[in-house]
Amino acid sequence: MSTLDRNARRASAESSAGQAAPRLRKIAGDDYLVFCELFLRLTSIDLGQYKRGQMERRIRTFAERAGIKDLEQYAAIIKADPSELERFLDRVTINVSQLWRNPQQWAMLARDVLPVLARDGKVKIWSAGSSYGAEAYTLAAVCREAIPTARVEILGTDIDKRMVERARKGHFSLDDARDAPRDGMARWFDQVSDGWQAKPEIQKLVRFEVGDLLRVTPPAGTYDLILCRNTVIYFSEDVRDALHERLAGALKPGGFLMVGSTERVSSPTQLKLDSCLPFTYRKAA
Ligand SMILES: C[S@@+](CC[C@H](N)C(=O)[O-])C[C@H]1O[C@@H](n2cnc3c(N)ncnc32)[C@H](O)[C@@H]1O
Repeated sequence: MSTLDRNARRASAESSAGQAAPRLRKIAGDDYLVFCELFLRLTSIDLGQYKRGQMERRIRTFAERAGIKDLEQYAAIIKADPSELERFLDRVTINVSQLWRNPQQWAMLARDVLPVLARDGKVKIWSAGSSYGAEAYTLAAVCREAIPTARVEILGTDIDKRMVERARKGHFSLDDARDAPRDGMARWFDQVSDGWQAKPEIQKLVRFEVGDLLRVTPPAGTYDLILCRNTVIYFSEDVRDALHERLAGALKPGGFLMVGSTERVSSPTQLKLDSCLPFTYRKAA
């Protein structure tokens, strides 16, 4: 249950117990919660599930830059002005990504993980929190090199539909390729006037969907490999742990979960995961 839901339920319980006034005043006087509620209605994104301190600071700084101190007032502005909502979404969902981000993780996947998964001939992969697709296209290129004969399917999902639309195009800037190997770029991407375009050979391995990781319960035992990197850092700890549990459930027996290079799964054994490689967990077979 989200913080907003919890607050609403608490308020309603207190109301029936005859103690409503002070609590409701507190919620109504909390411009951050009022803002979150409107934002949820406008975008379906539940900010109540993200770490409040970090998220609130970010939102207040952004509103103050627009000359607005009160978040209720700022909420009214983003409701009325779609371009302000766009600017705000750019700020909030933090879509930073790049091709071959954290190159050592890709080398390890190619050497230690993909060949194991390819023994069955078919590998199903989920890039959870895929932003504009750099991770999914890197996966596709690395799979083509490491396990060229395997049948590979890669799904990328992100809460931000603008990023999903961008991801479907498979177009990347020169800067997106700053850490990518030159030979990999030349083999799997065409250089175009303003950057790089994924070649059809890898484009056909990937597809993208809009999806909120906090709302979906993916079907159990579906994926051989899940990458969920640099996405949970914004979630509160209990929300993050619950998501890791759902991701573990979505893995096939013997499947792998890779997290970001500053992240970890807090109780892997409880989820039947073995911490087998750096930032990588394997589900019991
Ligand atoms: C920093 S990017 C990480 C992209 C990629 N995984 C990487 O490591 O390069 C984080 C992404 O998570 C997405 N995101 C945030 N909350 C989400 C949610 N509840 N469900 C799905 N995606 C979410 C954001 O829109 C953003 O594109």
